[in-house]
Amino acid sequence: MTAVDVVIMAAGKGTRMKSRMPKVLHRLGGRPLVQHVIDTAVALHARRTIVITGHGADDVEAWLRESAAGAGRPAPDFVRQEPQLGTGHAVQQVVPALPDDGIALILNGDVPLVRPQTLQALVDACGGERLALLTVDMADPTGYGRIVREGDAVKAIVEHKDASQEQRRVREVYTGFMAVPARRLKAWLARLSNANAQGEYYLTDIVGFAADDGCAVVATKAAEQVEVDGVNSPLQLAELERAYQLRQARALMEHGVRLADPARLDVRGTLECGQDVAIDVNCVFEGRVTLGDDVRIGPNCVIANARIAAGAVIHAFTHIDGEQAGVEVGEGALVGPFARLRPGARLGPQVHVGNFVEIKNSSMARGAKANHLAYVGDASVGERVNYGAGSITANYDGANKHRTVIEADVHVGSNCVLVAPVTIGAGGTIGAGSVVNKSTQAGALTVARARQASIANWARPKKAPK
Ligand code: UD1
Ligand code: CA
Repeated sequence: MTAVDVVIMAAGKGTRMKSRMPKVLHRLGGRPLVQHVIDTAVALHARRTIVITGHGADDVEAWLRESAAGAGRPAPDFVRQEPQLGTGHAVQQVVPALPDDGIALILNGDVPLVRPQTLQALVDACGGERLALLTVDMADPTGYGRIVREGDAVKAIVEHKDASQEQRRVREVYTGFMAVPARRLKAWLARLSNANAQGEYYLTDIVGFAADDGCAVVATKAAEQVEVDGVNSPLQLAELERAYQLRQARALMEHGVRLADPARLDVRGTLECGQDVAIDVNCVFEGRVTLGDDVRIGPNCVIANARIAAGAVIHAFTHIDGEQAGVEVGEGALVGPFARLRPGARLGPQVHVGNFVEIKNSSMARGAKANHLAYVGDASVGERVNYGAGSITANYDGANKHRTVIEADVHVGSNCVLVAPVTIGAGGTIGAGSVVNKSTQAGALTVARARQASIANWARPKKAPK
């Protein structure tokens, strides 16, 4: 088998995005467009991946280096194209970096949804000796390079601006993807000229050279239009985002996940689900999220970098963001509605976290509950603790953060402030409204607030008569 070397064209400006950011760094499904293409190349086990950069090259290269390092993969090779004189000129820059003995698979950095199997079919069609083009039939082919045939044989690609009236009637267009023996590609690239309507070096001119040289040219068709759709504008980006999300929704449903509405789901990362998972409408998943068997997610939740164990229920409008540290929700836990779990929140089995409760960098052991309006930060909360409404851990003294330890079976009343560092001994009770800044003994009742005083028959002051 001939090795495959992937060449990704990503030097273009993307004028119609009207953005300061290079086009290929705009995100789809949470990943830059060009990252989708690179991930597809990885799935093909390409020998080398060479990215042609130009506009915003520093940013594009930095991003791809960092993301490769993050994934534990070698970074792709970069070749700069400066200035940009056309797609043929772009690939000419790669010649010194491209081995002669492989198949060059040329991809577009702004066409994110092409599937590995489609590209594999293109590589197979090339077979190390033919020029293989990916084409598609378009209802409106305006602007695209037309596939010109004599009988069945492909003779050339003619760019729209250079095409005759008759050629413009051709609906079969070049998608921007080709697989070509590298040695022959190099020879043809050396023959390109820019004597055409746009004064550019067209990569597509090599098709005519191949036909002249008696090299077989084969066209394979893409199964789905969205696979070959490029992103040129914010509208096209949004359209492809929906197509991508629908693809993911379908895959989840094939796996048995019950989505209330596949059109109202956004997965911007990876979502792994066990059996009998149900997800209501308008949920957004980011980073790495895993949902165990029987997990239910209510409507309008945002969940990032979290592991939710079997049987847990996340009620409506809950926001979970684990960032780097992650969030863990234990088996059968109930979270929300309107709860917020921040990095390092570790909820054990059967924990309840209710509305307007924020948990950060804290563990809550089996069966602990914080049901209303509370803040638990930098704390270890023991089993079966009941943490009252309106209570908070004061974990920050203005300079440093300190930990609060609440041992098993403690009952913290409503509206308490636990001033860290402090330990509440096992089985203890903290009276409502207490400010606790000294650790307490196991089993003790602690009340730390002004003692109630009543004055009998108190007459309120009256307004003086005028
Ligand atoms: C190209 C094809 C056309 C095809 C269409 C499919 C050529 C001459 N034409 O046209 O047949 O139907 O794609 O979308 O190839 N790029 C560079 N350097 C350059 C110019 C472009 O890296 O100097 C990159 C762009 O960033 C982009 C890709 O090459 O990723 C395609 O360039 P674009 O200008 O969009 O080509 P089209 O004119 O659309
Ligand atoms: Ca284009």
